[in-house]
Amino acid sequence: MGNTGPEGAVARPASGVGEAGLRPAGAEAGEGREAELEKGVGEILIDEETLQARIVELGAEISADYGGRDLLLVGVLKGAVFFMADLMRELTVPCEIDFMAISSYGAATDSSGVVRILKDLDINVAGRDVLVVEDIIDSGLTLSYLMRNLVARKPATLEVVALLTKPERREIEVPVRYVGFEIPNRFVIGYGLDFAERYRNLPYVAVLHADLVPNAT
Ligand code: IMP
Ligand code: MG
Repeated sequence: MGNTGPEGAVARPASGVGEAGLRPAGAEAGEGREAELEKGVGEILIDEETLQARIVELGAEISADYGGRDLLLVGVLKGAVFFMADLMRELTVPCEIDFMAISSYGAATDSSGVVRILKDLDINVAGRDVLVVEDIIDSGLTLSYLMRNLVARKPATLEVVALLTKPERREIEVPVRYVGFEIPNRFVIGYGLDFAERYRNLPYVAVLHADLVPNAT
């Protein structure tokens, strides 16, 4: 069913990709790049399958809670994009999305809680059921600032879904309605999370390789 085109023809990949014995052009080079990317990876904390299974559960839970409401997902750029895209496709209720970009003035792997809005929302959140989508809550300072900022705009409701949380690192309490996984106090990369803007494209969550961890932390 899902593979059938408008004329009933079975959809096929444009090249020979996926057919027995055929490999996409440049496959060797691709494998080389992958190995390079994985140099940054220490231990894999949450594999792709576990991640996706939890997102299915979160999607079902959020869909049940938001039936008949006016859901607006607010993603925090850039890390939440990957989680948001997968989560949204698990929602069975109508919803809209918008994004904010904020920047903290802290060091590379630490948050100072001093936050600047780099890109604001396009959609007016007044009277909307707003669900903030975050990649990870560490000290909680960034989210705490964001919540205060959003409350002032008078949404009907305001909740948070975070893929990851590091409870040990929390400096300020922020109410998080939905959490994907609690993780230990390690610096993680992948599935949207970066180290110096790299590694967001890993499909799993891993601990940053010890050789790359800055001594400052
Ligand atoms: P907080 O203000 O300390 O809660 O910091 C939250 C932000 O810091 C997240 O949205 C991430 O961008 C970043 N962050 C915190 N911990 C990690 C991590 O382990 N890996 C990558 N980014 C992180
Ligand atoms: Mg972030």
